[in-house]
Amino acid sequence: MQRPLGQLRLSVTDRCNLRCQYCMPEEEYEWLSRSDILDFDEYRRLVEVFVGLGVDKVRLTGGEPLLRADLPKLVEALSAIPGVEDLALTTNGVLLRKHAQALRSAGLDRLTISLDTLSPDRFVKLSRRTTHSSVLDGFQAAIEAGFTQTKIDTVVMRGTNHDELPQLIEFGKNVGAEVRFIEYMDVGGATNWNQEIVFSRAEMLESLTATYGSIKEVPKLDRAPADQFELPDGTVFGIISSTTEPFCAACDRSRLTADGTWYRCLYAMAGTDLRKPLREGATTEELTELVATIWSRRRDQGAVNRLNEQERSVFVGLDRLKKDPR
Ligand code: GTP
Ligand code: 5AD
Ligand code: SF4
Repeated sequence: MQRPLGQLRLSVTDRCNLRCQYCMPEEEYEWLSRSDILDFDEYRRLVEVFVGLGVDKVRLTGGEPLLRADLPKLVEALSAIPGVEDLALTTNGVLLRKHAQALRSAGLDRLTISLDTLSPDRFVKLSRRTTHSSVLDGFQAAIEAGFTQTKIDTVVMRGTNHDELPQLIEFGKNVGAEVRFIEYMDVGGATNWNQEIVFSRAEMLESLTATYGSIKEVPKLDRAPADQFELPDGTVFGIISSTTEPFCAACDRSRLTADGTWYRCLYAMAGTDLRKPLREGATTEELTELVATIWSRRRDQGAVNRLNEQERSVFVGLDRLKKDPR
């Protein structure tokens, strides 16, 4: 294998209770049906395959993962797999008050909560929903449930929230969470994306320097896509500059959508259907070989495509990106 398989992102549902402008259009999708979506035992079997190939960090995503019924049961099953060292979840926070404690008790290690603004009015504009106070309360619920090392994901858009970076850093300090500012990416349902709205890493640093004084970059401590920086008072924050400085080639993560399609990169246009062989009775060894073979071809685009028939078309990939950009 040319690069290790280290991190796996598992989407547990394509549905969401927000409609963030940069992610999902307001109009209803054709959601996946129940039978399309992997059941918990199927997730467990696939995670075991990936762990056998080197994955030690698993992240549950969506849509909004807290909409998946009985999620703590999946957390319990995955956290019990030897080799899963870090089990995290990315959520919009709306339902955290209800679920944080059960998730923690089930063995979830870490949370990342999306928060783009501290203004209720801006939240409505951004997410087309009125649940901002539930999101803020979700941070409190996370603390009460005993979560530490929580991170905040903020997509920064010029003209929408680019003037809120210091306030978000201060909010992060208050709730003990590291903020990561994310450049607006042209993926998923970001139908209004245009270059002018992208508030770049350079601009973020310039604006934060104006508020806080000199900022120093800290050496990367983990395998996260974020570069980390330190303010003069020691506060650490991150910037994920996927748009102006893409890092796909250096990352060790891949993702599995809720219907069992495996993508080797966020920007990958084609994925591999793992649900079909799984449901047709493939053994763990067979699934392992399939995944290992496809991963090993990751940079070798010109190689003979011996598993070509298992790759779905580019259009399927594009459709997936519309629904599941994370
Ligand atoms: P931690 O280990 O907790 O830091 O995980 P993480 O940094 O992977 O965090 P998370 O999964 O929340 O990802 C944060 C954001 O980074 C996502 O919402 C995306 O915007 C972006 N991102 C994640 N994975 C990729 C990737 O493979 N490629 C690109 N370009 N962006 C990604
Ligand atoms: N640009 C950047 N990040 C995005 N996310 C979703 N869509 C986009 C986009 N167009 C990520 C953000 C958000 C999480 C739920 O998904 O990190 O907080
Ligand atoms: Fe839902 Fe997250 Fe997409 Fe917002 S960004 S619509 S919270 S999945």
